[in-house]
Order: sequence, then structure tokens, then C-alpha cells
Amino acid sequence: MVSRVIPVEPFDLVIFGGTGDLARRKILPGLYRRFLSGQMPPEARIIGAARTDQDDAAFRNFVGAAIKEFVPKNRCDPKAIDRFLAQISYITVDVRGDKGWNTLAKMIRSDVVQAFYFSVGPGLFGDIATRLNDYKIATPLSRIVVEKPFGRDLTSAKELNAVLAASFEEQQIYRIDHYLGKETVQNLMAVRFANVLFEPLWNAQYIDHVQITVAETVGVGGRGGYYDKSGAMRDMVQNHLMQLLCLTAMEPPAQFEPDAMRDEKLKVIRALDPVDASDIVRGQYGGDPSYLDDCENPASLTESYIALKVDISNWRWKGTPFYLRTGKRLKGRMSEIVVHFKETPHSIFDDDAGRHANILSIRLQPDEGIDLRVTIKEPGPGGMRLVDVPLDMTFADALGPEAKDVPDAYERLIMDVIRGNQTLFMRGDEVEAAWAWTDPIIERWQARRDKPKTYEAGSSGPEDALMLLHKDHRRWREIKA
Ligand code: BG6
Repeated sequence: MVSRVIPVEPFDLVIFGGTGDLARRKILPGLYRRFLSGQMPPEARIIGAARTDQDDAAFRNFVGAAIKEFVPKNRCDPKAIDRFLAQISYITVDVRGDKGWNTLAKMIRSDVVQAFYFSVGPGLFGDIATRLNDYKIATPLSRIVVEKPFGRDLTSAKELNAVLAASFEEQQIYRIDHYLGKETVQNLMAVRFANVLFEPLWNAQYIDHVQITVAETVGVGGRGGYYDKSGAMRDMVQNHLMQLLCLTAMEPPAQFEPDAMRDEKLKVIRALDPVDASDIVRGQYGGDPSYLDDCENPASLTESYIALKVDISNWRWKGTPFYLRTGKRLKGRMSEIVVHFKETPHSIFDDDAGRHANILSIRLQPDEGIDLRVTIKEPGPGGMRLVDVPLDMTFADALGPEAKDVPDAYERLIMDVIRGNQTLFMRGDEVEAAWAWTDPIIERWQARRDKPKTYEAGSSGPEDALMLLHKDHRRWREIKA
């Protein structure tokens, strides 16, 4: 496979929260990898901005250490790292005060793309957006990048949208959901809309149900304070799983173009039915440390696991449920979208030949790939017996070892910001619609003070989640260790 790298224009990228955890683990190592791929022109500059008083050299040391920690060793070429660091500088900025802003205004070039990455808590978005305007740093060429959580309910999301809209046009605002930057998520678009094979069958007539799973082995240790106020519904379902559902369920847009895509996703969100309380299972992991230990709140009612059945009321999907589940400290790390087709309407074979339905699974992680199970005759004598076999398209096998080195979601998304392509970013109305669907679900369990079921750490989640599918005569896919 030959990979094509499209160079981008020169740019100034300012990372507010440049010394924070996200910058250290994802943004800066991701930028280095793009630099290695030849995507960062020599005139491009990265400026770390934070409260800490330090000089360029100290920040470069920090970035160099982050690269060594988070980029595979075979890609850490000391000479390349030095060249990359030469394009990096640092500025001390008080985002709630005046310090640093005049200096920043002098540093930023007005004739190149300017991107401002708000890698800070949402409470600071307004302060930064306003100052970028007050100090005349922002121009019509500027873009701002904001991280999740984008609000914690509809009201706060609306407030955030309004704060940003006071200083920037919607076309300048890039709301990150890093799941949209994952390679296989984009592949879902290719599978659906670049093949004639699937689209005619992609509806309630042929699809029995869809399962979307994001299982994690990690717990919430270290970020229990944030997580306990959030829970799996706000932290994962409202954004990441919702996006996966939208891309699976949406109508084909007329173009692979930002507003065409986002219009179709929005229609899906607006067609989601409210979810019955009996179609939701919430859990908290036990073990040592348990969820309650990790969040240091023995009375916590927050869920670290959730499974729910979602119905979409439109012509394409009425009658085909989407089952979503996500949780921490589960048996394995596994994210996938699995489309279970219906059985053939009539079998011409004997009952003992066996019967299998087609299953299309799109694996996000690990082992990115797509697998379609088809039914064939079991080879050999002994009559007609049917087996289902995989047509496996593990990308690394199909496309060569280079396909294993897929770019991290953040790399792709940051480069899209520089290119000015909003296709893989959420629009303000989309985020609000997602909260409008999520809010009543959360409010109901909060009003009833529902207690999540405890599940064993390292298991597949609470027993009740099995029942959610059993009662519909279906089964979850196994979460593999
Ligand atoms: C984040 C959530 O948005 O996504 C985390 O806040 C979660 O709780 C993470 O662990 C999962 O991302 P990934 O890319 O590791 O699947």
C-alpha cells in the first residue's frame, strides 16, 4: 500500500492548555507524527500556551519527553525530534487575565491559517474566545477547536454554543469527538457509500438489529472526580456512541461534505425515540479497587456501565433496534459496530442443515477491520450441512503492514482543522439535539435515585444486561478478553 500524504498550508497553532494531559498524550505526539509524514511545512508553528512561567526551552523539553513516552520507539528519531521542536515555542498566558495576550497578538501571523486549540475545561472557553477577539488576534481565517465535554446537559450546551457564537462563526468552530477521527469509523462511510452491495439491504427489511459496543478494561482511577459527575451516559453515549449510531443509521448524504453529513446525522438524532426505563441497564464495577473506591464517593449512584435499547422512528429503521453498551473495567478492550442481518425468509435445506444469518462487524479497536460472515456448505461428504465463515478484511492483512500504522484519531482531526474541513466535527445543533435526547433519560433515573447494579471487574458487565437482549430473543456478542 502506498500512503498519500497531502501537505497542508503553513499555519500557527496555539494550544491553550499546552502543558496539560491531553496535549502531552495526544495532541503533541500526534503533531510530531504528522511532521514525520511530511505534512507539517517548515513555516508552520506550534505555540504552547499555559499559565506556567517557563521559556521555550523548558516547553520543548516537555514536548520531547511526551514524544518519547507516547510515540513508538522506532519513530523517535532524535534528529527529527530536534527539527520538530525547532518549530515549537511557548507563551505564558493568563486566560482569565491580561498577561500574555499582547505578546500573543504580536506572535500570530495574520496571513496564514490560525488555529486555537482550547484544550482546557469548558469553563474557560468563553474567556479565551472573548480575549482572542478583544486583543484582535482572531481573524476570519481563525479556527477554534473545542474538546468534550461540550456541556453536561442541553442548557449548558446551549450556553456554551452562545458563548462561542458571540466571537466566532459556526464555520470557525471545530467541536471534537475523537471517535469521528478513528480510521474505521471513516471506513464505515466507505463501506456504506462506496459499495453497491450493502446499501440496498441497509434497512429494517433486511437488518434484524445492530449492536454497538465500546468496552474498556481501564477503570476511572485518576479521573474519578470528573467521571463521578458524568457517568457512562454523558461521558460516552451522548457523544461517541451517538456518533457511531448516526453514521450507521443515517441516509446517504448527497456529498461527503460537512453540512450534508451533519444534516443527515441530525435527522437520525431527532428520530430517536425516548428510551423506556425497562430498556436501560446501569452498572458499577466492583473489585479492588471498586468504582466506589476509584471515585472516592461511597454513596455514588453514577454508572460506569450502561446498556440500552434504542429505537429509531423513521421509514428505514422502524422495528430494527440498536443496542448500545459501554463500560469500564470489562473483560476486554473492544469497540465494534455489528450489523445482524435477518435470516433468509425460507430455508430450502433440512432443519438439521443448520441456519445462520449474515453478520457484518466493523471493528474499531483493536485490530481495525471489517468482517462479513456468510453461510456456505460445510466441505466433505455427509449431506448438506451449513456453516458460517468469515470474509475477513483485517486491514493489516488486506493492505499490508503499513495499514497497521493507522494515524491516531487526533492527528487526522487536527490536520482537518488546518485544512478547514469540518466534516468530522460536530455542529452546534447536533450536540444540542443529542443532549435533548439524553437529558430526560438521565433526569428519570436521578429523580428515582436508581442505584446501578454492581458487576464484577473483568466481566462482561451486569447480568441484567444479558436479559435486555434475551427478552427480545437475541444475544450480545461476546466481549473477548
Ligand atoms: C473519552 C472518555 O472521551 O474516551 C473516556 O472521556 C474514554 O472515559 C475514552 O476512556 C475512550 O477513548 P478510546 O479512543 O480509548 O476508545
